[in-house]
Amino acid sequence: MSAITSKQKTSFVVKGRVGEKYLNGSVSISGAKNAALPALAASILFDDEISYNSIPFIDDIQVFMEILSSLGADIKKTNDGASVSFGGKMPKSVIDPSAMCALRGSIILTGPLLARTGRVVFSSPMGCPIGKRPIDFFIDGFKSFGADITIKENGGIEYVVTAPKGGLVGTEIFMRHMSVTATETLIFTALLAKGTTVLKNCAIEPEVSHLVEFLNKCGAVITGAGTPTITIEGGSLLKASGKSYTLPADRVEAGSFLMLGILAAENLEITNCNPEHLESLIDTLRRSGANNFEVTKNSFIIKKEDRKKVLPASYPINIQTHEYPGFPTDLQSIIAVYASQLKGRSFIFESIFEDRFRYLDYLKKFGVRFNMINRREIEIDGPTKLNGSVITKVPDLRAGFALITAAAIAEGETVIRDLKHVNRGYEDLEKKLRGIGLDIIRE
Ligand code: EPZ
Repeated sequence: MSAITSKQKTSFVVKGRVGEKYLNGSVSISGAKNAALPALAASILFDDEISYNSIPFIDDIQVFMEILSSLGADIKKTNDGASVSFGGKMPKSVIDPSAMCALRGSIILTGPLLARTGRVVFSSPMGCPIGKRPIDFFIDGFKSFGADITIKENGGIEYVVTAPKGGLVGTEIFMRHMSVTATETLIFTALLAKGTTVLKNCAIEPEVSHLVEFLNKCGAVITGAGTPTITIEGGSLLKASGKSYTLPADRVEAGSFLMLGILAAENLEITNCNPEHLESLIDTLRRSGANNFEVTKNSFIIKKEDRKKVLPASYPINIQTHEYPGFPTDLQSIIAVYASQLKGRSFIFESIFEDRFRYLDYLKKFGVRFNMINRREIEIDGPTKLNGSVITKVPDLRAGFALITAAAIAEGETVIRDLKHVNRGYEDLEKKLRGIGLDIIRE
């Protein structure tokens, strides 16, 4: 390897093979980024060491671990995960503003820090530019537990949240939208509040239930996870007592590879995943006429179409993104590429994030034919032969995979110059893609 490390190589070069089904092999799905962040944040509420398996070593996780270390955690990486311990000592309560800017998920730390230390200082989180990303559910939630909020304007906005003298008190909170991170953060806050807390209109993503199941094994008393109403009995610090937490597979990564595979694979196995968490995607793909993939308990198998079976015309799709178990907003940009290959006019409505179509500026360069009906809805005409392009910006963490998918099925070469977001969300992406036959190099 030349002196330049892979991190300093800031572009992908992809050679597409239009019309061919040429990817072959097997890809194993990594642990879910959006399960790792809350699981790591939970370590603040443990008074002993907690170890994790299947942590995806991607930039967001690296940054999150650095934040935990800055708060006083001792983190030891293992080959498959890490162990985290605050050694029974009180964590620091100020989150570095640069960390809050690096990823939206850093907001999850505010709840456990307030619960554990009685105080938390943080600035407005940033992350993917996919919408306003308000934090009123967090601020209003902390107030509901009895905390005092001081807002300071010094350049950015700084929140100083302080628990009352007698400690946080259990409460009842209704969130007007289902928010995964708000649900997780307020669960953490409630764990050390006095008495019972009832959270209403909670997110029911599988990552929430998976986390709560582990917290309950470590002394928490939480009921209702996986339903919109979650009840938490306030108690004392949790104990792992040697138990480790294994992250669930990343359903967004699995869905991403499934769509790429249907478009460009001859024979492909996508293993170590949970198809039961992707029923909405599977239903959409089947309705579009994709019948060259099988679903097993923990994998997808794409098979060379049986030459005798005449594939039905590929039908246009009409989807609306929705909280789980609806169609995942994180797969919205990738299904847009898929839709460009279907016969007819497809429609996509983005109901969660109000600014999640920025990637279309770049898909247009490949030749994708679309029309913005309004800020929340697009129509895409197909099928369209795509041509390789030079992409100078990747607008969000999941759009990177969408652009790589377009490049894989395009005529000619594509250069993707901005890998910041790509590195944040998919572990060893180019290694996995090269492993199944995509001609992609980092330079
Ligand atoms: C989680 O976001 C994921 N992020 C998102 O993944 C994912 O797209 C989303 O769940 C849906 O599955 C993490 O887990 C870190 P929100 P979530 O910002 O639900 C409104 C990725 O690429 N809202 O809370 O925590 C907000 O406007 C990311 O990995 C408020 O109004 O997202 C939106 O409509 C992108 N006030 C909805 O809730 C608040 O205080 C969800 O937004 C908070 C949110």
